[in-house]
Amino acid sequence: MKILIVGGGGREHALAWKLAQNGSIDKLYCAPGNAGIKNVAECIPIKAEDLDGLLQFAKSNKIDLTIVGPEVPLSLGIADLFEANGLRIFGVNKKAAELESSKAFSKELMERYDIPTARHCTYSDISHAINGIDAFGFPVVIKADGLAGGKGVVIAHDRAEAIIELAQIMNDGKFGQAGRKIVIEEFLEGKEVSVLAFVDGNIAVPMVDAQDYKKAFNNDKGLNTGGMGAISPSLHYSSEHACLVKESIIDRTLAALKAEGIVYKGILYFGLMLTKLGPKVIEYNCRFGDPEAEVVLPRLETDLLEIMKAVIDGRLGELEIKWKDESAVCVVMASGGYPEAYNTGYEIFGLDETDENMLVFHAGTKAEGSSVVTAGGRVLVPVALGTSVDEARSKVYNGIKKLNFNNMHYREDIGKRMNS
Ligand code: AMP
Ligand code: GLY
Repeated sequence: MKILIVGGGGREHALAWKLAQNGSIDKLYCAPGNAGIKNVAECIPIKAEDLDGLLQFAKSNKIDLTIVGPEVPLSLGIADLFEANGLRIFGVNKKAAELESSKAFSKELMERYDIPTARHCTYSDISHAINGIDAFGFPVVIKADGLAGGKGVVIAHDRAEAIIELAQIMNDGKFGQAGRKIVIEEFLEGKEVSVLAFVDGNIAVPMVDAQDYKKAFNNDKGLNTGGMGAISPSLHYSSEHACLVKESIIDRTLAALKAEGIVYKGILYFGLMLTKLGPKVIEYNCRFGDPEAEVVLPRLETDLLEIMKAVIDGRLGELEIKWKDESAVCVVMASGGYPEAYNTGYEIFGLDETDENMLVFHAGTKAEGSSVVTAGGRVLVPVALGTSVDEARSKVYNGIKKLNFNNMHYREDIGKRMNS
């Protein structure tokens, strides 16, 4: 069996690492991959957004299954394209991907089907948006409608700040085309949790929960990033929450998708806020979270390929998906400056010195001769398992000391109880 993974970050390294444990895979490719993925798969220099290039590669190399990591190719319709060409693919179709690629679409769906979420309004005209802000109180949340790499959300603390942000987003193109239309929504207070589910078009099977640390600096200071670390399980998600979320959010979302005639097969990621009034949806994503995948996949006991096949064939109900009764903590080692401007090309030291207590997934790395250099904002994602979050946390922070590159930056409080 030949498999192609699309993408080249920490999430795809975790996917490749997990899939490589399946004995029936003869050949694993990854496009474009990175310097860590290279150790488990053959990396092909085709970008994740180059749908035609990927299709040609899959056809000429007789790929049996393509697995898509990031949202952009899904939102461009890679699943529709591959299926139209008779190729098997794991990833949602273009229409289903709108749940992530258009916040206006997902908010309308939630409203129509009574799925708990923040009150909202959508605007394409700045003067209407300015007139609309007061209805939400302050702080208020302003979101670009389209994809913005996890960075298209601002929280404005008063009216003046909100107006400046609206002008930057809607007039000055702060988030490019993604911000031509915006969603304004009520600010929700509470703890955030990420719940991902496998969905086979018919049923959803939630994975173990996780908690992402989105802000750049310790104690949740600084700008929002794609994620600076994650833990699984979350420190705040109880079994009561899980029951409530399954019923009022996961199953209701599935029913809504079915009622809209949307066939959803793949991963559905629920970004949730645990508010005083119960869990509410902050956002949907149509793929594995990054860095959530790096803590969830190491806890998965069941073979991932078997699950993916069952998703595609609509027989998830026949599988029992098992998880390790262990906790996982990952810390994102980023380039100084991220999520704003940063430099790349710095040699990474210590990759051969880390012990078995820790896995090191690569995010933005590149092989250069016999060395590995930084090649992105998020560079490495070390992860450790332990009997508790505390144990996993101490293992990962201990192991991390061996890794080093110029301008390296990471948070020191991932999984820490006080400020989590
Ligand atoms: P999103 O891209 O929608 O997940 O938003 C990015 C981050 O902004 C979330 O992870 C939250 O931390 C924050 N956020 C988004 N929407 C809200 C909201 N309605 N209330 C409070 N925080 C929010
Ligand atoms: N960790 C958040 C995301 O993948 O969107």
